Amino acid sequence: MIDSDLQNFIPDLREVENLFNGGELKIRHRFSMGENKLVNTVTVNGQTYAYGNIVPEFTDKTVEKRYIKRYAKLSLYKALSKFTGKDMPWGALTGIRPTKLAYQQMEETGEFEDFFINVMKVSENKTDLTKKVINSQKGYYEKNDLNTDFFVFIPFCPSRCKYCSFISADIKHASRFVDDYVDSLIEEIRASAPLIKKLRSIYIGGGTPVALPNDKLTRVLKEIDIINSGVEYTVEAGRPDAINAENLAILKDFGVTRICVNPQTFSDKTLTLLGRNHTAKDVFTAYDLAKKDFAVNMDLIAGLSGEKFSDFQNSLDTAISLNPENITVHTLCVKKGSYLAEETDRLPEGEVENMVEYSHKTLQNAGYSPYYLYRQKYMAGNLENTGYAKDGKVCVYNIDVMEEIAQNVSCGANAVTKRVFNGGERIERIASPKDIQTYLNKSGDIIQNKLKFFE
Ligand SMILES: C[S@@+](CC[C@H](N)C(=O)[O-])C[C@H]1O[C@@H](n2cnc3c(N)ncnc32)[C@H](O)[C@@H]1O
Ligand code: SF4
Repeated sequence: MIDSDLQNFIPDLREVENLFNGGELKIRHRFSMGENKLVNTVTVNGQTYAYGNIVPEFTDKTVEKRYIKRYAKLSLYKALSKFTGKDMPWGALTGIRPTKLAYQQMEETGEFEDFFINVMKVSENKTDLTKKVINSQKGYYEKNDLNTDFFVFIPFCPSRCKYCSFISADIKHASRFVDDYVDSLIEEIRASAPLIKKLRSIYIGGGTPVALPNDKLTRVLKEIDIINSGVEYTVEAGRPDAINAENLAILKDFGVTRICVNPQTFSDKTLTLLGRNHTAKDVFTAYDLAKKDFAVNMDLIAGLSGEKFSDFQNSLDTAISLNPENITVHTLCVKKGSYLAEETDRLPEGEVENMVEYSHKTLQNAGYSPYYLYRQKYMAGNLENTGYAKDGKVCVYNIDVMEEIAQNVSCGANAVTKRVFNGGERIERIASPKDIQTYLNKSGDIIQNKLKFFE
């Protein structure tokens, strides 16, 4: 519980409190401002810590707010770190885009490492990871407000996986929506096409896009084909049990260049426990089918319920032995109160960190470089998700979305369309309803609002 006199920043301070699972601590935060100095006093269970920070003279209210928020969060982080004796890998950073912050800092001061390590208390390890990601993005990171990535969302899956934190419905239970969804989606894609300025990439995400019956998948791809100028084109096919020679042939015909074949783990025991309805062998079969025609990404998750370090190690080593272009290592993210939070054994502290560290070292030794990363709330160990690419074969879509440097025209339920101004200095967003039925009911308005949004 936190009590602060900076009422507007309480949600931000709670994010820091959550890093330490601090719900049971009694925290009082007081703020005062003198000439060029901010003072934050934090009392944790009766123990008081005070921090003073010299700041520049403020001429701009937004900058003033930014500094006040930054040092309040940082002071709370330092106090909680002292009180609990724990450091967090990303220090006081709570945002989902550490690299974006690093780029901003580089633009302002010419460097970010000193700021990360000495101001924000980010570990040297994570600062180094950020640096490597920025290096991998050279030649792809392009600030141009005309650049456009085109996204289409398919909210259906062959079944729901127990850990999944994304919006998607089991297609068996949602079959009544499929025809209408495809109709509305096609209408939205058609109406959105003129909003594309300079197409950088296309991404069909999910859910599991290839869970759609082949005739419906073909209709969606046909509509997208009109806008495709031969750019990077990803389909997050995803579930190996939904990938087959027929749907891959359709994807190939329509110029798809990259697909995901996601194991999550190569342990059959874990796959069954998580309700994924496929085996490790299915991953090999799907990968063999996909490899000859597409660049392939494989998603893995560190910290899955019931898995030990050796399980994760085996999954990572197996993925590397297959030699896909991209491997993305996610850290399990469990929302409080969710099935997994209640029903599963927690891993010993530090175990997920060991898995992530192992993946970082082993992937680099195998010739993979980290090229994008992001964080989420409720991540095990307060870690991150990192995408790795071999031989510089990065996914431009992932870079643009994480760094928010290109406009994103998105179609479908739960789609977020973004406009960027001045290389991402200002961003405007418009989101569609997450629920399929609401999306269908409002589809006409959604299109009109989107067109207006780009006026
Ligand atoms: C939007 S999902 C779509 C993937 C595809 N449907 C599949 O299952 O293969 C993208 C990725 O997010 C990751 N993911 C989903 N839920 C997660 C969670 N709770 N914690 C960590 N990663 C998660 C998985 O690695 C998954 O492959
Ligand atoms: S198939 Fe993918 S999107 Fe669907 S529930 Fe499983 S992890 Fe989530």
